[in-house]
Amino acid sequence: MHSQRIRRASLLEKVTSAADAATFIRNGMTVGISGFTRSGDAKAVPLALAARAANEELRITLMTGASLGNDVDRILTEAGVLARRLPFQADPVLRRAINAGTVMFVDQHLSETVELLRSRQMGPIDVAIVEAVAITADGAIVPTTSVGNSATFAILADKVIVEINASQPAELEGMHDIYIPTRRPHREPIPIVLPESRVGVPYIAIDPSKIAAIVMTQKLDSSANVLPADDDTDRIAGHLIEFLEHEVRLDRMTRALQPLQAGIGTIANAVMHGLIDSPFHDLKMYSEVLQDSTFELFDSGKLIFASGSSITLSEAKYAEVIPAIGKYRSRLILRPQEISNHPEVIRRLGLLCINTALECDIYGNVNSTHVNGTHMMNGIGGSGDFARNASIAFFVTKSLAKNGAISSVVPMVTHVDHTEHDVDVLVTEIGLADLRGLAPRERARRIIDHCVHPQYRDRLDDYFERAALHGGHTPHLLDEAFSWHLNYMRHGTMNWPPQPTVALASLS
Ligand code: COA
Repeated sequence: MHSQRIRRASLLEKVTSAADAATFIRNGMTVGISGFTRSGDAKAVPLALAARAANEELRITLMTGASLGNDVDRILTEAGVLARRLPFQADPVLRRAINAGTVMFVDQHLSETVELLRSRQMGPIDVAIVEAVAITADGAIVPTTSVGNSATFAILADKVIVEINASQPAELEGMHDIYIPTRRPHREPIPIVLPESRVGVPYIAIDPSKIAAIVMTQKLDSSANVLPADDDTDRIAGHLIEFLEHEVRLDRMTRALQPLQAGIGTIANAVMHGLIDSPFHDLKMYSEVLQDSTFELFDSGKLIFASGSSITLSEAKYAEVIPAIGKYRSRLILRPQEISNHPEVIRRLGLLCINTALECDIYGNVNSTHVNGTHMMNGIGGSGDFARNASIAFFVTKSLAKNGAISSVVPMVTHVDHTEHDVDVLVTEIGLADLRGLAPRERARRIIDHCVHPQYRDRLDDYFERAALHGGHTPHLLDEAFSWHLNYMRHGTMNWPPQPTVALASLS
């Protein structure tokens, strides 16, 4: 059984328990583990580390691809193992520790982590832990449902621990395309010219003598926490599709559109799902996370190819898709996240990028990460990689949060992840603001008229009109710019002093 998954006979003797493998990790080390948006994560050795921390001082720097599943971030946080964590997370317990200042979180563009490691601006990595479907006869590692940063972690680490997950289907082998950019200053262009371009090899090639331990596991990936589509997400999808139809009518693109990228979460997934009933066809994705909607689009015949760095699915979709992954193999590629998110490739392919804002302001600056300018939500993830380099950068959000106590469009965002220069189109359930080619005052008018919930529209209009009287290229009233957030903090609502509730009755 082991020899089917570990095809280099000399490595069979490295099979050991998670607890024994974890002894290669010592206090103060930097550890890079596989895992990208809850898929393909190392599942056994991190938990063995947490158990060890009950009896000894054990604090590490933990790097991943993105968020982890199986409660690994929560368990490591509760065990006090995390001194430093990067580049992305989405766990409520870890989030609390980050905001309490007990875990140092480095919120990075997902394409950049391994560049910093490779050029020795961060690191070094002591141990890499990589989930694999198999080890080849040459001792190369075949990843599972994500690639993330695993390849470069394994290449740069002193020691590598491989978790062979027997529950991941062997048919995953062949789906990955591992390409490592050449060293600077003489780096070659990345030769990806289409989403389906294969430019690397289907495994992570390392010196097999670095494999210090192999652990056999069975645990499944955690499922995505995506909520079902609702009226608001359907409206957002509707506005976006109408906009794209208009672009086609203007002959700016064909009905095959440009390759699509969609961020994590409910809204982006719902927007992609909405494409099933659209007039578009022969679609391609060049994205980082492939969610339920990717496979629904495949099955509907609308999507012909998808490139990503991970497959992250709901429980029901996982049970349907992963055991039958062979049937999608010729239409899927999983790449390292530095390649799925690479500015050079994103710009070359001319992607349509759809990401989610926590809040945006009247000029189109977007905050994707910080509540009230101080408290980390998840991290910027790949949204910056994509938005800056997109052909069209869309940001989507519901116009209200917390039952209407928060307007997602505010006078000035309390933290900027995506500057106005990187935001082309804003979409809420109220409408869509096409900001391309507009000056700040024009952008403000369009955002207020098209995206703001009626509950807050007059208030925002009043702010902008009074600010404009004071002049400026980007007018603001600095003593009022954050008053909406302050009202929320002091009175529990931005609707302060209270105005009667305005319903959306007029919206069809
Ligand atoms: N102020 C305070 N809280 C807000 C808010 C605002 N303006 N807008 C939303 N929220 C809260 C919601 O109420 C919700 O809180 P809850 O968890 O207590 O219910 C939470 O933020 C998440 O919002 P939700 O509307 O459910 O959206 P989401 O799940 O789609 O997540 C982001 C939105 C922005 C947090 C998420 O998309 C993200 O982390 N983005 C950054 C990374 C990224 O874009 N990656 C893209 C490439 S994959």
